[in-house]
Amino acid sequence: MMNATIGLIGAGQMATALGQGLIKAGLIAHDQLLASDPSEIARERFSRTLNARATPDNLDVVDWAQIVILAVKPQQMAEVLSQIRGRIGPERLVISIAAGVRCAAILEALGPQTRLARVMPNTPCLVGRGASAYCLAGAASPADGEIVAQILGAVGVAIQVDEKLMDAVTGLSGSGPAFAYVMIEALSDGGVRMGLPRHVATTLAAQTLRGAATMVLCGGDHPAVLKDRVASPGGTTIAGLQALEAGGLRAALIAAVEAATRRAAELAAGA
Ligand SMILES: NC(=O)c1ccc[n+]([C@@H]2O[C@H](COP(=O)([O-])OP(=O)(O)OC[C@H]3O[C@@H](n4cnc5c(N)ncnc54)[C@H](OP(=O)(O)O)[C@@H]3O)[C@@H](O)[C@H]2O)c1
Repeated sequence: MMNATIGLIGAGQMATALGQGLIKAGLIAHDQLLASDPSEIARERFSRTLNARATPDNLDVVDWAQIVILAVKPQQMAEVLSQIRGRIGPERLVISIAAGVRCAAILEALGPQTRLARVMPNTPCLVGRGASAYCLAGAASPADGEIVAQILGAVGVAIQVDEKLMDAVTGLSGSGPAFAYVMIEALSDGGVRMGLPRHVATTLAAQTLRGAATMVLCGGDHPAVLKDRVASPGGTTIAGLQALEAGGLRAALIAAVEAATRRAAELAAGA
């Protein structure tokens, strides 16, 4: 159990998922959480879902919480930073989850001595299966890194990286759920093409990806070793793998991550 108070600026989807994960994991109690949001609907939904308090005033959160999580959309960040500027002392840890907002921009607004972490979460955080990366900046210490890892760990897996790798993280795990959905949909189409009912095909496809991912994450074997174990000589799987290679699946996935990374860099630079 953490004994810190946690404030969320922005009480939207991600803030609600994070708060829910923290309470469910037993890391904090309901009364250690406070969110702010100008939207009454968002506040009401947050309070109802989490049995936690919400306020319209961002400064209530900043003055109360020891850990302040900036959970607004990137385009709302400048406004929030200008509101809370001057109210964040060295006793607070600030965590930004806004995609593409660089640490330098936040430190410029809040001061270079701010204890800051920047996080790139992904949408499966909403179901407790996120793949997040974070970096530390300003006066953040390794102990702050452990706090960030604990918070993100409540909604999935979290890995520390250098900030220069954040665009690549965005290209892989940020955009990656969409790539995986296309793979699930295409596998399902294959099943339907071969006569399976759609709901059976989609369930089998999604569960197959989940099972394969769990084998990689839990077993420690390289994906190529696991693939070789499934492909017996002259068998069905090697026939399918030949079709995948002919269709260029590997090259397409590598190119997808590269394209998404380049676009993340362009967006962060304001293009
Ligand atoms: N959703 C994801 O899975 C995901 C994945 C990766 C990264 N992220 C990052 O997480 C952040 C939040 O995303 P989200 O999907 O949770 O967005 P969201 O559901 O739109 O939540 C943001 C909330 O902040 C409110 N807000 C707007 N201006 C504000 C202000 N000045 N002060 C306080 N609150 C304000 C918004 O109200 P209004 O609706 O009235 O504007 C909204 O309720 C984004 O920066 C995004 O890049 C999200």
